[in-house]
Amino acid sequence: MSEKELHTQSALDEALDESFPASDSPSMTDPTHGMGLPSEGAGGEESDLFQPVRMGPLTLVNRIVMAPLTRSRAGQGDVPRGLNAEYYTQRATAGLIISEATNISQQGKGYAFTPGIYTDEQVAGWRLVTDAVHARSGHIFCQLWHVGRISHPDLQPWGQLPVAPSAIRPGGQAFTETGFKPHVTPRALDTDEIPGIVRDYAHAAECAKRAGFDGVEIHAANSYLLDQFLRDSTNKRTDRYGGNLENRTRFPLEVAAAVTKIWGGDRVGIRLSPLAPQPGDTPLDSNPMETYSYLVERLNRYGLVYIHTIEGATQGSRDEPPGFSFQQLRRQFQGLYMANNGYTRDLALRARRENLADLICFGRPFIANPDLVERLRTGAPLADAPKETWYGGGAHGYTDYPALSEGQARAAE
Ligand SMILES: Cc1cc2nc3c(=O)[nH]c(=O)nc-3n(C[C@H](O)[C@H](O)[C@H](O)COP(=O)(O)O)c2cc1C
Repeated sequence: MSEKELHTQSALDEALDESFPASDSPSMTDPTHGMGLPSEGAGGEESDLFQPVRMGPLTLVNRIVMAPLTRSRAGQGDVPRGLNAEYYTQRATAGLIISEATNISQQGKGYAFTPGIYTDEQVAGWRLVTDAVHARSGHIFCQLWHVGRISHPDLQPWGQLPVAPSAIRPGGQAFTETGFKPHVTPRALDTDEIPGIVRDYAHAAECAKRAGFDGVEIHAANSYLLDQFLRDSTNKRTDRYGGNLENRTRFPLEVAAAVTKIWGGDRVGIRLSPLAPQPGDTPLDSNPMETYSYLVERLNRYGLVYIHTIEGATQGSRDEPPGFSFQQLRRQFQGLYMANNGYTRDLALRARRENLADLICFGRPFIANPDLVERLRTGAPLADAPKETWYGGGAHGYTDYPALSEGQARAAE
């Protein structure tokens, strides 16, 4: 990372909410995560967290999932390259990898140096990644991304305004190739533009298939386009895509219909974050339980293989406000439940022991621990990843984190 990029790191942390830990964010090395839980100690090996599990037609070697992590290291043309293949391969012992968020179109892009999945070159670039992960018997889904209003004209085709359900300016700054720039007031989409974006999702889903992914995850979390349509705070439309629940869920459900047509429901998941206020200082929906329950119940008709929830504020508090329950969402959904946000070894073991989730998804711990699964299994210590290298740059802070040597792993057992 250049000095300039380093200098702008803190601004990027604010721009990329997903990277911006709240002050009460738990330490990743705090084994009990402030929840007063007893430590599991050794013996995690016996948990079914480390045992194979069926996910639709796939058999995952364990229940540990690598979360989507934007690392802003794609090559020219937003094309993944060998460096990216090496990074994912190092982490292929996860039962499932979910790729970093991947733009479905240029209009869907909101951060510099992020990969796309809509050109032939991008398909070829991703093929390097998927082949390498499969060579290590791993599985990888592609996270399909449209940022909506969380963008900037510098990142948009012909310098146009970003698009959104309504013309409401987000807080914070966009990460462009020439530095941080305040977000602008987006343009509200016309009703007849939305089918075109649904087609962009379908095209990206087809490209992901050609690129050799095992499935796709629809990114409907973290206040990006689909989440902007769901929330009544960002969706003030009066057409068939705004207003009541049926209308606000219409676009995400149309995307689910289009994508499952290509992949079949059993290779499609969806990510949701009903309680996450970032990026863009995006207010929550006025009744998140009602809105996301309505969505989840209707998703059942497409037979999605999992819902993936960020339990709480992304990288922040896991608290559920009165009236909200992730377990209720889980009960309403007919497929698997993948849980994320602040999971530690102990929390993950407990979640399986008490059957609170089918799959446990880890984000930050995977950055500096390519062999995270083995470390969790043996109870070995976890390395920390300095934030300076989270986004942008090359191999440093990306592919140069070592796995524990065999000797160290044995000593930890
Ligand atoms: C560096 C970084 C990049 C992220 N990029 C994405 C992303 O591309 N898509 C997404 O849905 N979430 C993204 N997130 C959020 C993570 O997937 C995850 O929800 C969050 O880190 C909380 O999980 P954890 O406590 O295990 O880290 C990112 C988080 C970090 C730290």
